[in-house]
Amino acid sequence: MGEPDGRTALVTGGSRGIGRAVALRLAADGALVAVHYGGNEEAAAETVELIAKSGGRAFAVRARFGTSGALDELFEGLTAGLAEHGEDGLDVLVNNAGIHLAGSIGQITEEEFDRVMAINVRTPVFVIQRALPLLRDGGRIVNVASAAARIGSPLQIGYSVSKTALVALAAPLANELGRRGITVNTVNPGVILTDMTSAWTSAPEAMAGLESITALGRIGLPEDVADVVGFLAGPQGRWVTGQAIDASGGTYLGPIPPA
Ligand SMILES: NC(=O)c1ccc[n+]([C@@H]2O[C@H](COP(=O)([O-])OP(=O)(O)OC[C@H]3O[C@@H](n4cnc5c(N)ncnc54)[C@H](OP(=O)(O)O)[C@@H]3O)[C@@H](O)[C@H]2O)c1
Repeated sequence: MGEPDGRTALVTGGSRGIGRAVALRLAADGALVAVHYGGNEEAAAETVELIAKSGGRAFAVRARFGTSGALDELFEGLTAGLAEHGEDGLDVLVNNAGIHLAGSIGQITEEEFDRVMAINVRTPVFVIQRALPLLRDGGRIVNVASAAARIGSPLQIGYSVSKTALVALAAPLANELGRRGITVNTVNPGVILTDMTSAWTSAPEAMAGLESITALGRIGLPEDVADVVGFLAGPQGRWVTGQAIDASGGTYLGPIPPA
């Protein structure tokens, strides 16, 4: 772990998968990290412990997105955790928590669509609204959307729509916040090995199919995404704002010539 750099960060969905890797990366860069989780207290505690064992600083915050009062719970936990560490502001906000929704236009229900939009779009919008008074000048907002916003996959139409809507947040917010030195960007992962994709990636033929359409020829790991988020969240990302960065190893770019 690096020396504490005086920054604070909130990573939603920091308990597992991509969010855990992001939390570890930001802590390694020196930030005090609020590790948000929705219900898996054990996983959140494990992330906090992993950070502490490496000499970093973190605390867990619970809020079940998609339920009433979730944002109050999040910001009460966040401000209390920051105060315990002598902090009262936020430098980095990573909106990573999200859910997947499989199904074609003929299959998805209105209830499922409302839920994926509530967790993947509505929640980040209002997390940002609530975080703004805490966010210090020069801060960073990174939203984790998906390469599904680029790849027209009919079998996850609700998910794709939700992630495309999330991508749309960055440009207007970048314009609104840029004069304060705050950047707003999106990272779009391809398929990454996490709990979200385990049912699918455990099938060797699915893995092989995916590798065959990915320029870099392998499936992504949470750290592959965390390093992109870490760059955007850090000082070297200062001149990038309003952008969506694909972190898919080049999935579905076009024909790959035979080796
Ligand atoms: N994995 C991929 O292939 C992939 C690809 C593209 C984009 N993404 C996006 O990357 C982000 C992270 O994905 P992942 O694969 O790391 O997911 P994951 O392994 O399923 O972990 C999801 C995280 O989000 C939290 N979460 C889920 N639903 C929540 C809710 N209702 N309220 C509060 N927290 C909730 C979970 O908290 P608990 O631990 O408490 O359940 C957990 O920390 C998501 O936005 C996903 O859409 C993933």
